[in-house]
Amino acid sequence: MRSSGVAAMLLASVVTTTPALAQQQQPSVPLIAQGCAGCHGQNGAGQGATPPIAGTSRDEFIKIWAAFRANERPATIMNRIARGYTDAEVAALADHFAARR
Ligand code: HEC
Repeated sequence: MRSSGVAAMLLASVVTTTPALAQQQQPSVPLIAQGCAGCHGQNGAGQGATPPIAGTSRDEFIKIWAAFRANERPATIMNRIARGYTDAEVAALADHFAARR
């Protein structure tokens, strides 16, 4: 009961995160995106069995992230990784990877 309420709150906060808020807290994106490169390849191009993430639209990225956090998207590892980033960081990562090709 309680935990599903928390998941719903997390989801709502992801959906309502404003660009202004993301700007205010301005995480250092190239640095946090380095944590993705080991699996997703430089610039999120994908490598081996790990899917490419470059070019994913901002909205799609934020939706996917919320689904990983809520355990609603099949995952071996991303469900756990997704919980380690704040909403502002996720918004910044979304912008970063949406701009990669
Ligand atoms: C330990 C390896 C690993 C790391 C680190 C990692 N990922 Fe992933 N990622 C995966 C795997 C594997 C999948 C496929 C889903 C699963 O099995 O969890 C995935 C899936 C995804 C997807 C969904 C892609 C799709 O089209 O289905 C996104 C978006 C994503 N990762 C973003 C990120 C971002 C952003 C970071 C860095 C903050 C990151 N990942 C770090 C391994 C990793």
